[in-house]
Amino acid sequence: MFIKKNTPAVILAPMEGVTDAPMRAFLTRTGYYDYCVSEFIRVSENALGPKIFNKHVPELNHSARTSSGTPVQVQILGGDPEKLARSAISAIEAGAMGIDLNFGCPAPTVNRHDGGATLLKYPHRIEAIVRAVRDAVPSSYPVSAKLRLGFDDPSVIEENARRAEQGGASWIAIHGRTKTQGYTPPAYWLPIGKAAKNVSIPVIANGEIWTIDDFKRCRDETGCIHFMIGRGALALPNLAREIRKELGITPVSTPDPLQFPENTNAQAWGKIFEAFAELQPSSKRIKQWTRYLVSKQKTEWWDEIKSLESTSEILIRLKQFQENQSSA
Ligand SMILES: Cc1cc2nc3c(=O)[nH]c(=O)nc-3n(C[C@H](O)[C@H](O)[C@H](O)COP(=O)(O)O)c2cc1C
Repeated sequence: MFIKKNTPAVILAPMEGVTDAPMRAFLTRTGYYDYCVSEFIRVSENALGPKIFNKHVPELNHSARTSSGTPVQVQILGGDPEKLARSAISAIEAGAMGIDLNFGCPAPTVNRHDGGATLLKYPHRIEAIVRAVRDAVPSSYPVSAKLRLGFDDPSVIEENARRAEQGGASWIAIHGRTKTQGYTPPAYWLPIGKAAKNVSIPVIANGEIWTIDDFKRCRDETGCIHFMIGRGALALPNLAREIRKELGITPVSTPDPLQFPENTNAQAWGKIFEAFAELQPSSKRIKQWTRYLVSKQKTEWWDEIKSLESTSEILIRLKQFQENQSSA
């Protein structure tokens, strides 16, 4: 089990194109996350074999843990219970310790192909999918579901949460928005709390937790003790540490704990990116990360690096920027 009903936890959200294996490895070095979830792996025409999982989730070759020892759950997405069940067995064969089912992806291509958030319109299908995967996977391996509040009607979350539980979900994570609400703020936390009262499995609250104040309001509105952090993990990288303090849980011990700076000091971030580049050399990911920082914190060096092509140029420019600031 990755989480327990009465033990608070902080989870790193799956974010396709963002929290890939290098990012998962890097962020979990802080010890701030009890577990993380892979980007979704889509099951469409055919059930997937183990090799696909080993390729997309390389941690499966290392006991399904990141280099710091944080468990990684494998997320699959699709609409066919039988294919998902067979794919889940392959994921376990490949080394997965648990399966998460995606019922939240709003991408038109995914929804057109009967996957992700479109299933929120059909509670009986959510139950059938969870049950098929639950029955296929040995009982010691958790099977969870990640839901949005609904497709367009947020009130369906109560039935969908119950259906996921009836299908045998070990826990559910709820992103407090419908598919049609996309990623537009705010997230609605009250319905997460209402749904949580109607099930006896753990419910993880998710959506728009960017600051410790957001966290406190989310906790008060949902009554949850499990929280999943997505974009905020990059925008304010010490957020999960602060949330753990509020929850009264210490960081998970890691062999090599990573310390993030408390602000957007160029030199400190240069060092962070230098270490990150050892895992993920692409400058695109560094710029993507900086965009998240910029969205919530004053980041004076963004204009300096946004047009640069290579990681080494970015690292040099950050150093120069700091030297210029210090001598000014
Ligand atoms: C770029 C991006 C990619 C995402 N990919 C996934 C995914 O692969 N699987 C999933 O269940 N949710 C995915 N999500 C949704 C997040 O897990 C999370 O539910 C959402 O971002 C709300 O949480 P936040 O406000 O803390 O970011 C993605 C979100 C973003 C922004």
